[in-house]
Amino acid sequence: MGRYNFEKAPCRVGHHTYKWKEAEKDREVLPAWIADMDFEVLPEIQQAVHDYANQLVYGYTYASEELINAVLDWERDEHDYTFEREALVFIEGVVPAISTAIQAFSEEGDAVLINTPVYPPFARSVKLNNRQLITNSLIEQDGLFQIDFEQLERDIANNEVKIYVLCNPHNPGGRVWEREVLEKIGRLCQKYGVLLVSDEIHQDLTLFGHEHQSFNTVSPDFKDFSLILASATKTFNIAGTKNSYAVIENPSLRYQFKKRQLANNQHEIPGLGFLTTEAAYRYGWSWLMELKKVLEKNVNFVVDYFAKEAPRLRVMKPQGTYLIWLDFSDYSLTDDQLFQLLREEAKVVLNRGSDFGQEGKGHARLNVAAPETMVEEICSRIAEVLPK
Ligand SMILES: Cc1ncc(COP(=O)(O)O)c(C=O)c1O
Repeated sequence: MGRYNFEKAPCRVGHHTYKWKEAEKDREVLPAWIADMDFEVLPEIQQAVHDYANQLVYGYTYASEELINAVLDWERDEHDYTFEREALVFIEGVVPAISTAIQAFSEEGDAVLINTPVYPPFARSVKLNNRQLITNSLIEQDGLFQIDFEQLERDIANNEVKIYVLCNPHNPGGRVWEREVLEKIGRLCQKYGVLLVSDEIHQDLTLFGHEHQSFNTVSPDFKDFSLILASATKTFNIAGTKNSYAVIENPSLRYQFKKRQLANNQHEIPGLGFLTTEAAYRYGWSWLMELKKVLEKNVNFVVDYFAKEAPRLRVMKPQGTYLIWLDFSDYSLTDDQLFQLLREEAKVVLNRGSDFGQEGKGHARLNVAAPETMVEEICSRIAEVLPK
């Protein structure tokens, strides 16, 4: 047993969380969908919340020097990424930052490219901002997502793409993009004058020895046309405290981003999020190391279990994140039939693959950030209801 408790899930029923909402109506339901974890937070984060409560007044707050240093230190120590403190821009969430970037750096009708299947708010942010959505499909090779670079170049050139929103590590599928892949992406962006928005929120959650490479560490000239988006919220299970940051090294891009942030009145960040982020980055390293071991064990369990108990179900083993992309297409069920089976018979809630793009038809995303026993129960319920 480690120093922290990853064996017992805290009871979240009644806390008005999206993840457990269905379980509030039906106590038999086990949720394994939205990306938060059923583990207790790091004790120092809980302490930071207590300290905040003890302030007794919850007014407007600014980012402290201690917080800025904690982020700079984390990025340097964990990701070998150093940058000037001026480049750091705090914002409530990575998703709001994607919308702000789309608004700041393109006009209505402009083309914005994403690699599908991908985290649904990417497409939503493009479409609701009245930009043209260009989807470049990832291809599956040897159980991993890959980018078809010839198709990518055609998609960028033919549509005069202005912005490329990259997901690194990729959700779903847990692909940790290598330096060579990022190098090719960067060179294409340079060639066609594309602004690269790199969502690196899963950067700390790399597994099985895979290492995250931040886009800006690939080549110094990439910093001229990029925004890196990251946060401690996914890694440390503090998404509800709302805090993330953009690293924008090009001063002119930073100016435009901040101006748009101000226009959207997004510059005030909750003080609680500042404190939880600082505590996470200052004290969370050992917790994260233990978490990753638990996640690796859970991922391995899922891969082995379904290979034995439901061999027609194809499992994409992630290189990072706690999200597993499951391919049910061999069962020839419609999505409605599949999700009816999962929800009503197995009583588990997974994400619908088709929400991630048309490539996700017949797929589902499984979240394994939960105690081993819960993951085992979810898998056994799924295997039991699938046709043999
Ligand atoms: C790729 C990706 N980006 C962003 C987010 C959410 O970001 P935020 O809560 O900071 O808006 C998630 C959450 O799962 C995610 O998977």
